[in-house]
Amino acid sequence: MKLNLIWTLGAISIFLLKPCMAQDTAKVEMGEKIYITYCETCHGENLVNSGQSFDLRKLKSTERPRFESSVQNGKGQMPPWKGVVSEKDMDFIWAYIRTKANDK
Ligand code: HEC
Repeated sequence: MKLNLIWTLGAISIFLLKPCMAQDTAKVEMGEKIYITYCETCHGENLVNSGQSFDLRKLKSTERPRFESSVQNGKGQMPPWKGVVSEKDMDFIWAYIRTKANDK
């Protein structure tokens, strides 16, 4: 009886979690597409570059505000992306960057 209950709860939570996981995957895939379109030329394939620009994998999970402000306003040699990359796009790019972050 008790075991049945555990199985049922397990099945329900997988059922509930699945759409969330699928949503995350879709976000990361969107982010990758946007990254390839606008960022890859300077920041490198799979976020790997030979030092010509910032290594985005170094951004810590707590540095999202820094990420958003640098992308919106530009920094150094990097032009500002305000008006090109929307808030939503930045959310997707961030999700993509986090999958490759050094402090994952
Ligand atoms: C024309 C080349 C170029 C493109 C395209 C580019 N960047 Fe950059 N980016 C740079 C350079 C160069 C730096 C280093 C700036 C500095 O610190 O002087 C940088 C730095 C950054 C930083 C770190 C800034 C900080 O806080 O130190 C972030 C975040 C970033 N870029 C995100 C992006 C994103 C997201 C895109 C795509 C929307 C993008 N970049 C496209 C050249 C580029």
